[in-house]
Amino acid sequence: MDKFIIDGGRRLYGSVRAQSAKNSVLPLLAASVLTDKRVTIRETPCISDVSCMAQILRELGAEVCFHDDAVTIDSSNATEHTIPSALTRELRSSVFMLGSLLTRFHRAVIAYPGGCDIGLRPIDLHLNALKRLGVSIRERDGYVVCECDRLRGAEIQLDFPSVGATENILLAAVKAEGRTVLAGAAKEPEIVDLQSFLCAMGAKVRGAGSDLIEIEGVKELGGVEYEPVKDRIEAGTFLIACAVCGGEVEVEGVGAQDLGILLHKLRENGCKIHTKNDKIEISSYGRLKCNRRIETMPFPGFPTDLQAQATTLNAFCEGGALIVENLFETRFKYVPELKRMGADIEVRGRNAFVRGVSGLHGAVLTAGDLRGGAALVLAALGAEGVSEVLDLSHIDRGYDDLQGKLKKLGAEIKRVRV
Ligand code: UD1
Repeated sequence: MDKFIIDGGRRLYGSVRAQSAKNSVLPLLAASVLTDKRVTIRETPCISDVSCMAQILRELGAEVCFHDDAVTIDSSNATEHTIPSALTRELRSSVFMLGSLLTRFHRAVIAYPGGCDIGLRPIDLHLNALKRLGVSIRERDGYVVCECDRLRGAEIQLDFPSVGATENILLAAVKAEGRTVLAGAAKEPEIVDLQSFLCAMGAKVRGAGSDLIEIEGVKELGGVEYEPVKDRIEAGTFLIACAVCGGEVEVEGVGAQDLGILLHKLRENGCKIHTKNDKIEISSYGRLKCNRRIETMPFPGFPTDLQAQATTLNAFCEGGALIVENLFETRFKYVPELKRMGADIEVRGRNAFVRGVSGLHGAVLTAGDLRGGAALVLAALGAEGVSEVLDLSHIDRGYDDLQGKLKKLGAEIKRVRV
């Protein structure tokens, strides 16, 4: 297993281009089996969640071929509709396969999905919505078995704007008979991207980005070559890295519309931010001030996937901050690691109370989940002395060449095999 060795205290300067969004590419890969024609996704990031999803598609009988930065999926020979538990446990996004497989085969069997250990992450909203579309669902030996004679359009109201459930409903409704109206949908940019992808395949979907999405079932979907949106979470991680370390960084590929609330919070910290089209420039000098309060919310609220990085930034700032995590109940597991570096943070339930300290010191740290792991890297970059970040498997799930990109910005970071 690899580890990072980071010598902290270097300012960051330069430009970095965001990768394609992990949270877009994964549902697009799931969507590739909606058709028996070839689907190509360009600029696919080299991350282990993508390899895992590719492996799931291969298990179904699809041919998946990575070439240059693209991946092409040919699922014309796919016949399998059961997803092996080893893979679903590794990747929660495998749950999107339910919608795609039901559309393609009218049957899907999937082990209860896994992913980051950041809370209970139930799938009741997905399953209730699928029932509305005419799917019968039973559980058998840890597997969810979904079947239908045909999918029927329906009116669906989500109790909570779940990203995954919204995407699954789109995937199950694109070829359903008649019209589906989804109210209370999630509004994340990755859902807009899925809509664009499906429309490029010939689907009739509109409204993504608002809380009401309408889907008119079509008979056939064709192949497509598509370039996904850029990763606002990766981009946000680099912006926060610059805020922590000081310096001037330009992030390309993501605009203010996708990261509005983060930019607002960074300005509150005292950073200078300039945006133009799909570029964001940040400069950070001197000791920053704590945000009074950051509360994670569905888009356009503060993303839970940037909560750990923002908490880490506040640990270095002057004053105090209250961080409220509303989405996932156990998403402060990285905090004890920060405390070992000298951070002053108290976690009570879904609240973290941060009292800023004038500096953190290097330590040996273990990355326990994807975004928490990225936050530890940021802490190590900003700390005095050398840190090690162990167990990079979680970070590798979502960041393509994190150390290479940070090194280009001037960080002292190397990846070594243990
Ligand atoms: C997606 C993102 C993840 C991000 C999250 C919230 C992908 C691949 N992952 O995850 O990075 O952190 O959105 O922005 O896109 N819930 C239920 N029942 C359900 C489904 C969800 O109660 O059936 C709850 C969850 O437990 C959680 C909340 O709804 O508290 C949000 O979950 P959801 O939006 O579904 O997140 P994911 O799609 O899993």
